[in-house]
Amino acid sequence: MSKLWSSSIGKKLVMSLSGLFLIVFLLVHLAANLFYYGGPEAYNAMCAFMDTNPFIKIMVPVLALGFVIHIAWATVITLKNQTARPVKYKVQDLGKSSTWESRNMYVLGIIILGMLAWHLTHFWAEMQLQHFIGGEATDSPYELLVQTFANPVIAVLYIIWVIALWFHLRHGFWSAFQTIGLDNQIWIRRWQCAARVYAFIVAAGFISIPVSVLLIRCFGK
Ligand code: HEM
Repeated sequence: MSKLWSSSIGKKLVMSLSGLFLIVFLLVHLAANLFYYGGPEAYNAMCAFMDTNPFIKIMVPVLALGFVIHIAWATVITLKNQTARPVKYKVQDLGKSSTWESRNMYVLGIIILGMLAWHLTHFWAEMQLQHFIGGEATDSPYELLVQTFANPVIAVLYIIWVIALWFHLRHGFWSAFQTIGLDNQIWIRRWQCAARVYAFIVAAGFISIPVSVLLIRCFGK
């Protein structure tokens, strides 16, 4: 068991399982955020539900652990790959056998990490964290969201971050199934297709919110 844990297959397995866990989380997170389209009452009610639901309270530390494990293993695997392959392949040779996103998973991950840090300090700290520590949470999460994305600089940075997530998922989704071993000729094509659909839905869903806020700000409802 400890051999599997320390082997490269074991490390990849940890990456795939933690990645798949984060993939499920992203869908739930997107579904929650789409309540924005229901207006202030619907969005605030969803946030209140998240703040008080015991299952969500248990899942918050589990989710944090999922991120920590994924990032720690990503760093170990990337450093190992770098030292194992100090001489870089010629760009044209690499391009033929792999996609741009598959060669830049760590860089994309670092950009995602930036979004995560901002997200935590800006939204999560003002909404959920206050309930955990008995502080004063924002009265209206909806207002916080709208005011945040009404700033075009923040909205554009956010969109760039989500695009990095999009590329990470386009590769990560099917790669995870390949790691698990569900990668015969037929299934790998299906996973690749599902990866494109999933990554598009997640990216389009998250991007649509700041775009909607900006459009309403410019042109009204
Ligand atoms: C919501 C956020 C994230 C999701 C849903 C996600 C998902 C995934 C998935 C499913 C994989 C494929 C695993 C495999 O090939 O078996 C993966 C790979 C990877 N992820 Fe993430 N990830 C996220 C955030 C991050 C972050 C923050 C980092 C780093 C700072 C990162 C770095 C990597 C790297 C380097 C790989 C490729 C590892 C390898 O060489 O096999 N990811 N990710």
